[in-house]
Amino acid sequence: MSSAPGYQSPAVTVASVLPSDLDSAVLIVPVITGDNDEAKVLANPFLDAEATGEIEVALKALGAKGSTEQLTRVLVPSLPVASVLAVGLGKDRDEWPADVIRRAAGVAARALNGTETVVTTLSELDVAAAVEGLILGAYRFSEFRSAKTAPKEAGLTALTVLSTADDAETAAARGVDVATAVATARDLVNTPPSHLFPGEFAKRAKALGKSAGLEVEVLGKKELEDAGYGGVVGVGKGSSRGPRLVRLTYRSGKKDAKKVALVGKGITFDTGGISIKPAANMHQMTSDMGGAAAVIATVVLAARQQLAVDVTATVPMAENMPSSTAQRPGDVLTQYGGTTIEVLNTDAEGRLILADAIVRACEDNPDYLIDTATLTGAQLVALGARTPGVMGTDEFRDRVAKLSQDVGENAWPMPLPEELKDDLKSTVADLANVSGVRNAGMLVAGVYLREFVADGVQWAHLDVAGPAYNTGSPWGYTGKGGTGVPTRTMFAVLQDIAANG
Ligand code: BES
Ligand code: MN
Ligand code: ZN
Repeated sequence: MSSAPGYQSPAVTVASVLPSDLDSAVLIVPVITGDNDEAKVLANPFLDAEATGEIEVALKALGAKGSTEQLTRVLVPSLPVASVLAVGLGKDRDEWPADVIRRAAGVAARALNGTETVVTTLSELDVAAAVEGLILGAYRFSEFRSAKTAPKEAGLTALTVLSTADDAETAAARGVDVATAVATARDLVNTPPSHLFPGEFAKRAKALGKSAGLEVEVLGKKELEDAGYGGVVGVGKGSSRGPRLVRLTYRSGKKDAKKVALVGKGITFDTGGISIKPAANMHQMTSDMGGAAAVIATVVLAARQQLAVDVTATVPMAENMPSSTAQRPGDVLTQYGGTTIEVLNTDAEGRLILADAIVRACEDNPDYLIDTATLTGAQLVALGARTPGVMGTDEFRDRVAKLSQDVGENAWPMPLPEELKDDLKSTVADLANVSGVRNAGMLVAGVYLREFVADGVQWAHLDVAGPAYNTGSPWGYTGKGGTGVPTRTMFAVLQDIAANG
C-alpha cells in the first residue's frame, strides 16, 4: 500500500464505541449553542452522562458558547484521552449540511498542530465529511523544509472515527479516497516550478495513473509538433523545458457506461511570456497547473472508487516563458484540428493549450466534457477568491453548479453571451486569443473555448483562478497554498452521472 506514489493519508479506523486505549489522543467533540448561550455537547451514543457533564462544566467555566467553529480545549479526567477539543456548530439543526461538518472538522484539525492520534464523534453526523475535513485540515506541505524549519511533530497519523451507521466503513473509505485525491492535487500545486515543469509533471501523472491501473499516454514536444498541437507547442516554445500532453483513461468495464472527458490547464509556471506579467505576485503563478492537478486527481479517484462511468483526462502541460524562442504577440498558430489563431497577448496562454486538448478530447465522442483552469484574473474580479465560475451548455452547467454547491466548493453559473464572440475577430486569422476590451474577461475566455467543443457534447468550463490557490488566511479545511479545488466538484459530477446518466 505505502508504495503508492504521492500523498499518504493517515490511517483511519471506524469504531462504534470509544476505545479505552487512546491515552495520548485528542478527542474532538462537536458542541452546539444551548438555551442560555452556553455550549452543549451534541448528544451522541459514545459519551455517557458523566463525561458529557464534565465537558459541559469545563466549557462553561471557560465561557464557551458553541458558536460556529469556536474551539475550546478541556481536560476530562473520566475519559481515556489526553484532552477534549470542543468545536462549535452553532445553533442545533435537524439536518447537518456536509460542509458544516467538514469545516468544523477542518478547523479542529488545524488547531491540533501536530497531534498524531485523533478520535472524534463528529463522524456520527457524517462519516465521510468528518474524515475529509480532518485529513484536509491536518494537511501540510513540508517537502522543501530542512530540519531548520520542518515541523517537529509527525502530524495526524492515526484517526479513529466513531459511528453507529451501517455504512460507516464504506463512507470512511470514500472519505479517505476523496481527501487523498484533494491532497494529491494540493501537493502538485504546492510543488514549486523549479521542481515541477512539464516533463516532471507528466512523469508524476503517469506514476499516479499507473498505480491506479489507468491507461496512460504521454506525448512529448516532437510528437505534439508532428500531430499539429499548435497551441501547446506555441505556448511551450519559450521554455527550455518542453511541453507534454498526458492522457489518463479509466474504463469502468460497465456496458453502456457514460463517457466523460476531463481537461485541465497545466501551465507549470505562467510568466505571461513576452506579454510579461508584473513582478508583484508573479510567484503565485506556480498555481497555474491547478486545473491539471485536479483533473489528474479526479480520474485516479474515479478508478479507486470504481465508479460506473468511463473517464479520460486530457492534460496539456507547458511552461509559459519569455525568451528568444518564445512566441510573439502577433504570431499566428494553428490549434489542433485546424483553427488558426492570432496570438495578440501571450499571457492568454491557457485557452491556447486548452483548445488543443478539448479538440483531442472530443475525438473520443464523450457524452460530457468538463474542463477546468486557472484561466482569468477576471474570475477573481467577478466572483472573488472562493467561488469558481462555471460556464457551458445550459443544463449541464447548472447541474455542475448545483453539485459543486452540495460539496462546498460553491461554483456559480455564468452566461456565455453570443455577442462576445465578435470581440475575438482577428484581421489575419480565424480568431484572436484576446478581445480588445476589458469587459467580461472570464466569459470571453469561455466563449473562446466554446468554439472548440464538438456539437452535441454536454460541456462545463470551471474557472478556478482564485479558488485553486489560497493566498489569504487558512479557513475551514483549507490552508494556505493549493486547495485541490475543483477535485470534489468533478468527482461529485462523475458520481451523479454514474447514478443518473
Ligand atoms: N493564469 C492567468 C490567470 C490567473 C490570474 C490565474 C490570477 C490565477 C490568478 C492567465 O493565464 C492569464 O494571464 N490571464 C490573463 C488573460 C488576459 C491576458 C486576457 C488575465 O487574466 O489577465
Ligand atoms: Mn497567462
Ligand atoms: Zn495562465
